[in-house]
Amino acid sequence: MKKKWLGLMAAAVCVLSMAACGSKNEPAADSGEGEEKGTIVMATNAEFQPWEYHEGDDIVGIDADIAAAVAEKLGMELKIEDMAFDSIIPAVTSGKADFGLAGMTVTPKREENVNFSDTYATATQVIIVKEDSEIVGPDDLTGKTVGVQLGTTGDVYADDIEDVTVERYNKGFEAVQALLQDKIDAVVIDNEPAKVFVAESEGLKILDEAFTEEEYAMAIAKDNEELLEKVNTALADLKESGKLDEIIAKYISADE
Ligand code: ARG
Repeated sequence: MKKKWLGLMAAAVCVLSMAACGSKNEPAADSGEGEEKGTIVMATNAEFQPWEYHEGDDIVGIDADIAAAVAEKLGMELKIEDMAFDSIIPAVTSGKADFGLAGMTVTPKREENVNFSDTYATATQVIIVKEDSEIVGPDDLTGKTVGVQLGTTGDVYADDIEDVTVERYNKGFEAVQALLQDKIDAVVIDNEPAKVFVAESEGLKILDEAFTEEEYAMAIAKDNEELLEKVNTALADLKESGKLDEIIAKYISADE
């Protein structure tokens, strides 16, 4: 008799607490201790295969997978927001997004506005030209018209070359289209997307001589040191466990 009563009490507590969990404005979600998962928002520009690109209705790629793995470690739900590349840092600084992950190179200029996580990959800026082009290296770009994606490091490099006309496009793909149509003489873009573009269209090649080495990292608001620390711990785990290599290998074959 007594036992039965206790059982009923327990059930009543359960129902009460469930009601509490279901109520709106539950602070538990923010503290990360509740049943409900908080949401973490990633800002990206999904025009950058293999790092991030559209596949049907989904945004997939190395960065999307890394973000999913990090979110899982943080016990949070990941939401990906696609936007123009040059809107990513403003989205992070304004708090519209929690972090930017977009094959984004760490640069001193960007570091004035955001913190960068530990780096998770390296890249180079390469030059794409038509197969029959007379351009063989960066020095030959003088006096030429070069296409880039607006606001990228490729944009910065191209702009630094003497006597170059820089054509800025919203998407790397559009720069490559312009090159195919002979509207421009070359495209400066990151090496992995360059490989994808060249593989997808006839008559293009990547020059052997590349610009300097760059490092990719996640951009996080300066006032969010807590997230920076958590992300760095998660990234270290992913490196240590081999999961990061696994993600990269899923999208980039080693023999390339
Ligand atoms: N690494 C270059 C930069 O940081 C290009 C990145 C472009 N990324 C993108 N998702 N479209 O400027």
